[in-house]
Amino acid sequence: MLSNKMEEALNAQINAEFWSAYLYLSMSAWCAREGKPGMAHWFEVQFQEEQDHARILFNYVLQRGGRVELQPIAEVPTKWQSELDVFEATLKHEQHVTSLINNLYALTHQENDYATQSMLKWFVDEQVEEEENATNIIDNLKMLNGNGYGLFMMDKDLAARVYTQAAPLAGKA
Ligand code: FEO
Repeated sequence: MLSNKMEEALNAQINAEFWSAYLYLSMSAWCAREGKPGMAHWFEVQFQEEQDHARILFNYVLQRGGRVELQPIAEVPTKWQSELDVFEATLKHEQHVTSLINNLYALTHQENDYATQSMLKWFVDEQVEEEENATNIIDNLKMLNGNGYGLFMMDKDLAARVYTQAAPLAGKA
């Protein structure tokens, strides 16, 4: 059974994951309007992945006999200055999410909740990948330094990203 504290913290994380999904959908819209369909697609895949993250936690709370209480999703930004700006905002956001996951992990120690700790292990690993993906794109954008042809080719590259359902959801959602 989940402690009240853990149940509350997991519900807060469900909301944070949906907020992330909403943020990335907003970024996708911005990229589409800026004439970068590949980047818009990349963020749309990100939008789908964040919904998976929320769903993993949602399923887990219910599996442990807890209560899921969905809260309103707060407003997200809608404008960025450049392609580099939107990906730097992505990295900054993922670093924030990493700190949220680390706080949850620390709470499992306090609450002696090792089942939740085991479930969270997937999120710890996922955050390494999330930060790495954004960092690689930022490095490439810096290298291009606004070169139009380079940006065109990079946009084509990002259009190839394929959504894959998160492993913990296999057969569940
Ligand atoms: Fe749910 Fe991008 O971390």
